[in-house]
Amino acid sequence: MNAVAGRFGAQAGRYDDVARVQRVVAERLAARVAFTPARVLEVGCGTGYLGALLAQRLPGAALVLTDIAPPMLAQARARLGARARYAVMDGEAPDAGLGQFDLIISSLAFQWFGDLPGAIGRLRAMLAPNGQLLFATLGAGSFGAWAAAHAALGLPCGLHDYPSAAGFAWPPGGAGEIEAEMVADELPDGWAFARDLKRLGAGQPRAGYKPLSPRALKAVMARFEGGLRAEYQVLFGRVRAG
Ligand SMILES: C[S@@+](CC[C@H](N)C(=O)[O-])C[C@H]1O[C@@H](n2cnc3c(N)ncnc32)[C@H](O)[C@@H]1O
Repeated sequence: MNAVAGRFGAQAGRYDDVARVQRVVAERLAARVAFTPARVLEVGCGTGYLGALLAQRLPGAALVLTDIAPPMLAQARARLGARARYAVMDGEAPDAGLGQFDLIISSLAFQWFGDLPGAIGRLRAMLAPNGQLLFATLGAGSFGAWAAAHAALGLPCGLHDYPSAAGFAWPPGGAGEIEAEMVADELPDGWAFARDLKRLGAGQPRAGYKPLSPRALKAVMARFEGGLRAEYQVLFGRVRAG
């Protein structure tokens, strides 16, 4: 299991307590399902919030929920029970043996992928004719206030590089469509921001980042004593079967 899976797995029991933005994004993604798919595959299902929305909206659909972290999948199973099938799966190396799907959907998991264009290409190959891959992932400019505070102090920042809507890298075989929307989370201070990311399992910094000294961290946190508005720039993508 990789480090990302380990972190998400370790936080699976607390994830729902802090997944405010993730619920909003899942709702906006579910609202983009503008057809009635018979076979649905979810990638990176987490605790199953989006899966439950889909189960409600698509009562006749066969649902397969997958995640790389077994404890997350266990939470999803506890939420949806026999309404879905479940599989531990790395969305970057999807199991073609699961069959073909009319809808493949993924909310806020793709930002953890190392080779997103390759993964999108492999998932697209699992779409049935006329099928669609719908996803939500983080885009450039997310958590701008946090990055700006580090830059102002001349400190390195552990945030990942996220793609812009215009510069989004698609796999060979055709581009998809992207719509960008911002979702904001108002937090009392920087400590709450860091704590919530950790509780989400999303606290893993960019590769090679060395944690700040306690003094440098305090200087960053001092900039957010009056509150922190965490802006998630969410890219909603749609890819049609090739
Ligand atoms: C921020 S959570 C989002 C969970 C859920 N989709 C939601 O919106 O609440 C990210 C999820 O992606 C999963 N994940 C990360 N990398 C993955 C990968 N390569 N393949 C499948 N799932 C992955 C994590 O285990 C975690 O459950």
